[in-house]
Amino acid sequence: MLELSSPITREAVVALDRGDALSPLRHHFDLPQGLLYFDGNSLGPLLHASRQRVAETLQQHWGQDLIQSWNRHGWIDLPRRVGARVARLIGAEPDEVVIADSTSINLFKLLAAALDLRPGRSVILSQPSQFPTDLYMAQGLAELRQPQPQLRLVESDNLISALDSDVAVVSLSHVDFKTGERADLRRITRAAHQHGALVLWDLSHSAGAMEIGLSRAEADLAVGCTYKFLNGGPGSPAYVYVARRHQERAQSPLWGWFGHRDPFAFDTHYMPAPGIDRFQCGTPPILSLVAVDAALDIFDQVELAQLRQKSMMLGELLVALVEQQCSGRGLTLASPRDSKSRGSQVSLRHSAGYQIMQALIERGIVGDFRAPDVLRFGLTPLYQRFLDVWEAVEALRDILENRVWDHPRFQRRGVVT
Ligand SMILES: Cc1ncc(COP(=O)(O)O)c(C=O)c1O
Repeated sequence: MLELSSPITREAVVALDRGDALSPLRHHFDLPQGLLYFDGNSLGPLLHASRQRVAETLQQHWGQDLIQSWNRHGWIDLPRRVGARVARLIGAEPDEVVIADSTSINLFKLLAAALDLRPGRSVILSQPSQFPTDLYMAQGLAELRQPQPQLRLVESDNLISALDSDVAVVSLSHVDFKTGERADLRRITRAAHQHGALVLWDLSHSAGAMEIGLSRAEADLAVGCTYKFLNGGPGSPAYVYVARRHQERAQSPLWGWFGHRDPFAFDTHYMPAPGIDRFQCGTPPILSLVAVDAALDIFDQVELAQLRQKSMMLGELLVALVEQQCSGRGLTLASPRDSKSRGSQVSLRHSAGYQIMQALIERGIVGDFRAPDVLRFGLTPLYQRFLDVWEAVEALRDILENRVWDHPRFQRRGVVT
């Protein structure tokens, strides 16, 4: 996809930016001057629209209209309205998605629902490389149920052959948080269905960076966060997807009043709301939801296929430049080489990965590190320039060539790495 003659020059990279139809979108983001941000796959940056909408909500809605805002400013419908906007981004129908809780809590709810939808089956099939919360929620849920379900962990190459008639649900990330490897959502969903199992997809690392096509793949269940590529802000609420065909029988194990058929009847007995609403639980976090809603506006101006295309080009450029500028310096590619098999990130391994990332951050190039040795570079086509990639790799080359990373100040570790 990326067609540049070798060796790649700075001028050629600048020309890529000149031809980039998405470059005007960068101005919607409040990016700090001089910072090159490669961590939008962990925490997306602030949009001007979110700052303005949250300020208006604080001052006018909460500040002036107080409790009337639930009706007057539509707070009560926000989980569904924002859910419907996320639905478009993940290829689902508007009534199949609702915003609620965190990704972790939603994993718990949907794993429990999946086990109930497949009585007589006791296995949750997953991979050891999953984001830990996906595994922990399954382990914790298993402890609570009788008979106890079994969490079966197999490597990705063996996943399909591990399917059998005991598997109730396959729980998987669409894009691996560490390596960026992208699972074949359609193929795995089809294989699971052939064995009578459901699939629960964690879309945290793919929504907002590529087309996902849940309906087309006949996907069953999905969750994901809104603070990465969707730029919703730190700790913004997550989403739940349940295919329409499962909604009548799928039950949340958390019987919160916002999932009740008629929350304001204050009935003593729980009755699940029809459809996706039963997967809400308690009062939605309105300020965060407003920030998510505003952050999604930018996606109305762009096709997901365009985003994916630029994201793949950014990744191909990064890999090609690392090979050109940094070869022989101990870096290896942790991500798949073929950009079609990668999400929107490139991960590199180096035995001094932590120190190297700290040295990059000191120069205003912010990626992150995942133990034991992975440097992650998130690719975010809404605001990243091809020149950012050039400059990041130039800095990486200098840090490696001159062993800049080999200094005690780069050893100190914070709580969040
Ligand atoms: C794949 C995946 N799932 C879940 C989470 C986190 O879930 P929560 O939002 O509940 O903290 C992350 C966080 O980075 C993640 O990468």
